[in-house]
Amino acid sequence: MASNGKIILDACCGPRMMWFNKNHPDTIYMDIRKENFVACDSRKIEVDPDLIADF
Ligand SMILES: C[S@@+](CC[C@H](N)C(=O)[O-])C[C@H]1O[C@@H](n2cnc3c(N)ncnc32)[C@H](O)[C@@H]1O
Repeated sequence: MASNGKIILDACCGPRMMWFNKNHPDTIYMDIRKENFVACDSRKIEVDPDLIADF
């Protein structure tokens, strides 16, 4: 367990689509990028990790 109490690392979280709870309290969300864009089907995609890093 990390010193901040987080026990799950999602190292390629992207827009967290696989998560039911996209802000799970036990998780650090990491990605190499932070960006917002609109997909070709008009969905708003938000990649906003807690930690920007290269795994
Ligand atoms: C297919 S998406 C992940 C989708 C995510 N699992 C979800 O539930 O929405 C892959 C992600 O990996 C990230 N990625 C690619 N190379 C990486 C690296 N070296 N370090 C961290 N993240 C990386 C990309 O920026 C992208 O957001």
